[in-house]
Amino acid sequence: MKTIKIGILGLGTVGTGVARMLEEEKDLISSRLGAELEIAKIADLDIETDRGLTVSRDRLTTDAFSVIDDPDIDIIVELIGGETFAKECFERAIAKGKHIVTANKALIASHGNELFQLAAEQGVDIAFEASVAGCIPIIKTMRETLAGNTIHSLAGIMNGTCNYILTKITCEGASFEDALAQAQENGFAEADPTLDIEGYDTAHKLAILNSLAYGMKINLDDIYVEGITKVTREDIQFAEEFGYRIKLLAIGKRTNGAIEARVHPTMIPMDNLFASVNHSVNAVDVCGSATGDMFLVGKGAGMMPTASAIVSDLVDISRNLISGSGQRVPYLSFRSDRMNDLSILPMD
Ligand code: HSE
Repeated sequence: MKTIKIGILGLGTVGTGVARMLEEEKDLISSRLGAELEIAKIADLDIETDRGLTVSRDRLTTDAFSVIDDPDIDIIVELIGGETFAKECFERAIAKGKHIVTANKALIASHGNELFQLAAEQGVDIAFEASVAGCIPIIKTMRETLAGNTIHSLAGIMNGTCNYILTKITCEGASFEDALAQAQENGFAEADPTLDIEGYDTAHKLAILNSLAYGMKINLDDIYVEGITKVTREDIQFAEEFGYRIKLLAIGKRTNGAIEARVHPTMIPMDNLFASVNHSVNAVDVCGSATGDMFLVGKGAGMMPTASAIVSDLVDISRNLISGSGQRVPYLSFRSDRMNDLSILPMD
């Protein structure tokens, strides 16, 4: 049986989950894939903490570049997060002809146009299912399931931390600070939770989905962003009294030949599906020309749901490596020769 060698960069919450899934589900994955996924090396600044993994110590290193440069490694899993060093790792991995799997929405949203171009030139794949909505297969849905649909609109609860905080305040009367601390303990929040609560993490995800849905360049700068820090307990109580629930929603919809793109707290009627999406669960409603509304729901953050999305991408890329079909069907929306001139509407 062929062995595909994996190098993991970053052994935080998600990295540990990926390593755990590759270890615990090794036989299941090989029987489904027809090849073995082997953790060849893992890089992290902390290689002393015991994370309950069986990977041998000689496969752990503090030097990310030594993982990328290892000629035996086929796929790099980037879970370092942030933009600066992660981007260096991407560029180096692409130059070395490695395929990349990532959960790094900030990097894709801010530098995806350039990185996908580089990857296309080198004939390598960048897979990013885990970057949006945790375990929900929204990237595969946009790229594959809805390939023959014009997308009219998309809307989603796409930040587990914010949804967890709003749920805790609404349903349990928790304070904002306590709810955020619990979200951090549960491993939902970003290293810098400002990205979550000020709405930027959701905007990163919306920029990625808009690009896939509407075939436009990734455009983060023109999205209107407002987080949940100004939502008060009184706002939540008034909304409830009038039959509404407050959720942080991302919206991207076609309007007069352009895209309206915004992230902000929204009053959702109680009988709308979004109103019953609670805790760290995410949901996305995509409206396609043939499908009409399609509502996807599942855990949007946390160790194993996000690891599941990473492993699904590892399996996808590995299938192509095994079959020798080379680069996977490219992400059409990211091909500069296919990009149309849709832009985001200016918001007041
Ligand atoms: N901080 C993110 C969230 C992690 O809370 O949704 C998953 O993208």
